[in-house]
Parts: sequence; structure tokens; C-alpha cells
Amino acid sequence: MRLEGQKVLITGGSAGIGLALARLFLQAGCQVAICGRDRTRLETAARDVGASPIRADLADRGDLAAMPGSVQDAMGGLSILVNNAGVQFNYDFGSTPSPEIAAMMDQEIRNNLEAPTILVSQLLPMLSEVPEAAVVNVSSVLALVPKASAPVYCATKAGLRSLSKALRYQFDDAGARIKVFEVLPPVVDTDMTRGRGTDKISPEDVAVATLDGMAKDRYEIRVAKANLLYWIHSLAPGLAERALRGS
Ligand SMILES: NC(=O)c1ccc[n+]([C@@H]2O[C@H](COP(=O)([O-])OP(=O)(O)OC[C@H]3O[C@@H](n4cnc5c(N)ncnc54)[C@H](OP(=O)(O)O)[C@@H]3O)[C@@H](O)[C@H]2O)c1
Repeated sequence: MRLEGQKVLITGGSAGIGLALARLFLQAGCQVAICGRDRTRLETAARDVGASPIRADLADRGDLAAMPGSVQDAMGGLSILVNNAGVQFNYDFGSTPSPEIAAMMDQEIRNNLEAPTILVSQLLPMLSEVPEAAVVNVSSVLALVPKASAPVYCATKAGLRSLSKALRYQFDDAGARIKVFEVLPPVVDTDMTRGRGTDKISPEDVAVATLDGMAKDRYEIRVAKANLLYWIHSLAPGLAERALRGS
């Protein structure tokens, strides 16, 4: 798809992969709005790159309901929704008290799966108004195979992957001009992975692969090692599962 001139909302655009995406969309000639919870970090990031800040907590249904109005005010419309914000908690079901698990899984499910779903439905009227639109869902290589330490995170990413495919079918069947992209990064060097993981790629690498994939209408954007893992999983699922189980 053509990228120049698009109006782009990036959730979680104040740090990590989202901020790198914001920079690159702006360089490609887009108008960009970014959202996040921490107002100071959001406004600083927005000022640094030249994006519009939208303060919102995606786990809050009221903030989600306000999003179409905020996007309209910030950019006067929308053509690309990037569902990027996500949270990950590592916990062991055998040793973590049940109320703690409930609190963490609530955040993971709301941020990683519920918010993208609600945003697509709420912003669809705006996306439908333009000649060419896109939804970009940032899932993970862990959408293909889970790791033991983050069961609910992996489940939400597998859910987001499934949602992306089903929405692609729906828009396609309806003749809607809305493309659905899924981005599957491997381990990336951001706040989310601070103090863990090895052999990380940079958020900028993910952003470059994403815009390149979008420009070529490649709907599944498997970044770097995620592509290798995808093929291993297709040919020898057990091998891929063993490789990621303890990662
Ligand atoms: N890092 C990796 O290795 C990796 C690998 C595969 C996939 N991913 C996925 O890539 C996406 C981005 O990850 P990242 O590593 O860039 O994360 P990050 O560095 O931790 O940044 C997360 C961003 O999301 C925002 N955010 C978090 N919770 C939010 C909420 N409830 N409402 C609004 N904004 C919220 C954060 O701002 P505030 O905290 O101020 O709200 C921040 O801007 C996530 O979906 C993640 O699952 C990451």
C-alpha cells in the first residue's frame, strides 16, 4: 500500500517499537498520533518526533470510548490503526497466588487483545471513509509457539494473530479497502525485555521491516528470526516448540 500521506494512530507510541514506528511513518510523509498512559513520557516523545499525543489507558473502557473523538481532533481522520501497545508478565501458576494472577492476566488480556479488538470496531467508520486503509496488529513470534514463563501473554498474542486473520477475511469478503497486517517480532531490545533475553534486535529493525512489508502488501510481517521460526514450525512443529519453550 502507499504510505505517504496516511493518517496513523500508534498505540503505545511513546516508547520501544511504537516510537520507532512513529519516527518511520513520519519520515514516510504520514501524519502520526501516538498514545500512552504516562503523560510526561508521551508528550516528550511526541514533541521529539513531531507526532500528536493522545493520553489514554487502553485497559480503561472509558479511554477507549474517547479514542475516535481524540483521533478526529488530532488528525481530522484516520487511515492506519497500529495496535502496538502490549504488556507482558512472567508468572508461574504453581507458585503465584491466584489474586495476583488475576490482576496480571486482566492487564494482559485488556491491553493485548481486548483493546485492539475494541479499537478496530470503534475506528472502523473512520477507516472506511478513506480510499485505502490498514489495521496493523503487532503480535509476536510467541503467537506461533508459547514459552513456559508467560502463558497468558502468549495466549493473547495467539488470539491477536487469529483475530488478524479473521478480520482480513471479513474485510476481504465485504470488499472493504482495509488491509490487515500482522507483525511478528522476535526478541526486541525495549523496556519490555530489560534484564532478560539475548540476541535482541532493535525497535528500529522492527519498524523498517513493518513499513517495508506494508509497502509490499505482505500481510504477515515476520521480522528477522521470526521468519525462520515460522518455517521450522511449519515443517517440524515439535522442534520449534522445544526451541521457544524455555526462552
Ligand atoms: N520487546 C519485545 O521483545 C517484543 C517482541 C515481540 C512482540 N512485542 C510486542 O510489541 C509491542 C510493543 O512492545 P515494546 O517492547 O515496544 O514495549 P515497551 O517498550 O514496553 O513499550 C510499551 C508502550 O506501550 C504503552 N502502553 C503500555 N500499556 C499501555 C496502556 N494500558 N495504555 C496505553 N499505552 C500503554 C507504553 O507507554 P505507557 O507505559 O506510558 O502507557 C509504551 O509506549 C507489544 O505489543 C509487545 O507485546 C515485543
